[in-house]
Amino acid sequence: MKIVFPVAGVGTRFLPATKEIPKEILPVIDKPLIQYAVEEAVQSGLSDFVFITARGKEALENYFTPNPDLDDFLKRHQKSHLLDGLREFYTKNFTYIRQKQALGFGHAIALAEKVVGGEPFAISLPDDLIISRQPAMAQLLEVYEKYKSPVIAFMEVPSADIPRYGIAAGKFIADRVFQIEKLVEKPAIADAPSNFAVIGRYIMTPDIFPLLQATAHGAGAEIQLTDAVIQLMKKRRVLGYFFEGRRFDAGTTLGYIETLIHVALRREDTRDFTRRILRDLAENEKL
Ligand code: G1P
Repeated sequence: MKIVFPVAGVGTRFLPATKEIPKEILPVIDKPLIQYAVEEAVQSGLSDFVFITARGKEALENYFTPNPDLDDFLKRHQKSHLLDGLREFYTKNFTYIRQKQALGFGHAIALAEKVVGGEPFAISLPDDLIISRQPAMAQLLEVYEKYKSPVIAFMEVPSADIPRYGIAAGKFIADRVFQIEKLVEKPAIADAPSNFAVIGRYIMTPDIFPLLQATAHGAGAEIQLTDAVIQLMKKRRVLGYFFEGRRFDAGTTLGYIETLIHVALRREDTRDFTRRILRDLAENEKL
C-alpha cells in the first residue's frame, strides 16, 4: 500500500523559521518532523511514499536521498554513524508530486490519484506526531484489513479545541471502532455532533478520487478531504478508529513545545537531563 504525505503547506505558524525551510524539516530534537511520520509508516510495513510538495520544499525532496558531499565529510571524520538512522530510507521508494496552487488538503490528495492508481492507500499528516506502542498507522491497517472499509483515526478533544478539527459522531461496532454517521470540518462548538476529532491518519479507498474531483469543482478556495469523505459515506461505510497512543500537535508553536518535551522525556539520551530541568523549574517556581 502506498502512503501519501501532504507536505505542501506554507507553514505560516512557524514564520520566520519557515521562510526558507519547510516546516516538516523543523527538528524535534535532532530529527525532522517528517522523519517521525515516515518512520511510523516504515514500522507499519509501508515503503512506498508519495509526497505532495510545493515550490520551496526542495529540502524535503532531498532529505531522504543520499548527500555524497556530506557522506564524504563524515567518512573522513569517522562520523558516518551519525546518518545511520537515515540510511534505511535511501532504499525506499519516494515519489514527489508538485501542488502548483495552494488549493487545500483535499486537492493535494486528489493529485496522488495517478500514482496510487486503483488501490487503497494511506494518508499521514506529519504535524500529528503520535507516540504509541504499536505504530498508529499499523493499528489503522489492521482495522482496514478486518472491515475492508476506509478508516480515519480519532481522539477525543476538549470542547474548546473542537473548531480546529474534523468532528464526527456515529455508532460503535467494536471496541474503539465506530461507523461515522456525521462528519463536519471545523464546526463551531455549538454545532459539533461530539468531541470526536479527526487526527491525521487515514486509510482511503480509490473511490474517494472522483468525489474529490467533484469537490474540486465546487465553490471556495480550499478543497477539504472531509467534504469528499461526507460524500463517500453516502456510498459506503466509513469507519472511525480511536487509536491507542498519544498524539502531539507539532503543527502549532505551543504544541511543538509540548512535543519536544515529551519526545525528550522518552529518549534515553535526553530523559534524565530533561527531567532534571523540569524539576528544577517546578521547584524554583514555588520559591
Ligand atoms: C486537517 C483535517 C482535519 C483534521 C486535522 C487533524 O486539518 O482537515 O479534519 O482534524 O487535519 O490534524 P488541518 O490541521 O490541516 O487544518
